[in-house]
Amino acid sequence: MRIAHISDLHLCAKHKRDNIAKIKKLIQHALDNGAQHFVITGDIADNGEEKDFILFREILKKFDLLRSDKTTIVIGNHDIFGGAQSAHDVVNFPSKCLSVNYHEKVSAFVVHFKELFENVIRPHKESFFPFAKEFKDVLLVGLNSIDQYSRFKNPFASNGHVAKTQRKLIESLLITPKFKYKVKVVLIHHHFYPKNIASQSSESALWNKIENFTMKLRGKKKLLKLFVNNNVKLVLHGHSHEMKEYFREGIRFINAGASVDNNSKDEASLFLIDAFPFDIGTALSSLQQKPILSYHPPKLIASLAS
Ligand SMILES: [Fe+2]
Repeated sequence: MRIAHISDLHLCAKHKRDNIAKIKKLIQHALDNGAQHFVITGDIADNGEEKDFILFREILKKFDLLRSDKTTIVIGNHDIFGGAQSAHDVVNFPSKCLSVNYHEKVSAFVVHFKELFENVIRPHKESFFPFAKEFKDVLLVGLNSIDQYSRFKNPFASNGHVAKTQRKLIESLLITPKFKYKVKVVLIHHHFYPKNIASQSSESALWNKIENFTMKLRGKKKLLKLFVNNNVKLVLHGHSHEMKEYFREGIRFINAGASVDNNSKDEASLFLIDAFPFDIGTALSSLQQKPILSYHPPKLIASLAS
């Protein structure tokens, strides 16, 4: 299955019109290059506003992608808490976050894209996340990594948390016997950077400290262990706005966070991923660049990680 991985669209009809034009071009680019399924790992709407969710629904519909078998999404922090566009917004952000009903926003997100959640497998009938979608060779497992707002522990509403309750449900999906031979792919908003990767990509130690305080994923180590123990091959995420592929504990991680919300008016890029039971191929592809997928069978993936 050829997957197109896009993330962090930050669509906003009022402030970020370039992103709307770019996502349309990027979807067409992916289709022209054989994409069979689209994965979008959160922050679809910059301010979690209904009108921007509706806008994206219309875009998906236009490309005949508003279907569960064609597109899978998970939620990002901006889809719940939004962000700040002006100095006024920055000042008012804490009180805005305190007024957000977290569970209502998660529910609204799923309802806005209800077609994309048709026929998903839910281990807990009352919880929208985690969920799984089964394809011929691939199992997609979608998580909610967005932490609740806290003035002290999560002051920018950008940190993540996957608690024990969700981890138990994820495990119940991953150990299901009928999924044993599927390529297990996890979809999550937050990143899994080890400290040394974060420092390579950031401009200063101070920025690393700020990033660690504002973008961390609580429960990351336990989650990583769960993935290793249950043969997860690939984790797709966004949140940090850069296009990056890296390995942890033999698992391949792909960050498509800068797909369209980048500093360029025209530039847009995505990852194309071929997922087969004994092989995974990936390519970073931009609008101007034809993708060339490189393949790394499992043994090579393990050696790259060590
Ligand atoms: Fe985010």
